[in-house]
Amino acid sequence: MRSMTNCRSTPSPPVSRGTRNPDNGSALIVHRTALVTGGASGIGLAVAHRLTADGLSVAIADLNEQTLAAAAGSFTSAHRLDVADSGAVEALIEDIGPVDVLVNSAGIVGPNMPVWDVDDDAWALTMAINVTGTFNTMRAVLPSMRERGWGRIVNIASIAGKEGNPNLAAYSASKAAVIGLTKSVGKETATDGVIVNAVAPAVISTPMNDDTEPETVDYMVSKIPMGRLGLPEEVAALVSWLSSDEVTFSTGHTYDISGGRATY
Ligand code: NAI
Repeated sequence: MRSMTNCRSTPSPPVSRGTRNPDNGSALIVHRTALVTGGASGIGLAVAHRLTADGLSVAIADLNEQTLAAAAGSFTSAHRLDVADSGAVEALIEDIGPVDVLVNSAGIVGPNMPVWDVDDDAWALTMAINVTGTFNTMRAVLPSMRERGWGRIVNIASIAGKEGNPNLAAYSASKAAVIGLTKSVGKETATDGVIVNAVAPAVISTPMNDDTEPETVDYMVSKIPMGRLGLPEEVAALVSWLSSDEVTFSTGHTYDISGGRATY
């Protein structure tokens, strides 16, 4: 059974992201499609707007029906999707057709407590959405990207996956897994024209942090040399580049966007 329902908006007229014909340097217009998971909020929403401005046809997919309905009008299509449901992911890809650019932004913070207090369900849900969800969408789009010889995948990891945040063991482990997944798949598709990278933001001003205690936000900001939260649009600018033809010799890598916090 398909767990997906569509809330389609009127398709935008195709606007194209131009690129150069590598054979003769002449202008070659390539019309590209993007799928952004978690596209109804925060970083995913900013990415969806940025890729639309870049000239791509953008489909967003999200679990939250309310925010999805609110955002739907701005994009080519909008789909209710649980990324943890592999059948629903496969059905969505079949429905929307070939995806040139996949951005995996769907994610949850998961249990915010010491690891010894984390229960089975909270651990499993965090892994199911953050890790298996990323795997599900990549597996679904990769055959067609490889067949067509062009694709870009950007996974939203986190600095928590590199450093490990206290009281966020499931989240940190899930984001470390996303970084590992990105490294593996980047190598698997390295000669296929399919480029796979991740970004590792420090704390970004999005609804995900709305319920975070002010002291916790202050603590996180204190670790950022630039002394402020990042903006979703700043992450979107990096994702835009990683989704483009400009990226030709970089894959399997995790890009920092942390206001100077990351030291490696
Ligand atoms: P957000 O909460 O604003 O957006 C996340 C979106 O994912 C929401 O719209 C939510 O409905 C959707 N989602 C959750 N579970 C889903 C599921 N099973 N299937 C489909 N969609 C689902 O959060 P934000 O900040 O935009 O986060 C986006 C990504 O960036 C997440 O992967 C997060 O872990 C990562 N990130 C966020 C940081 C921050 O400080 N905001 C820092 C580092 C990474």
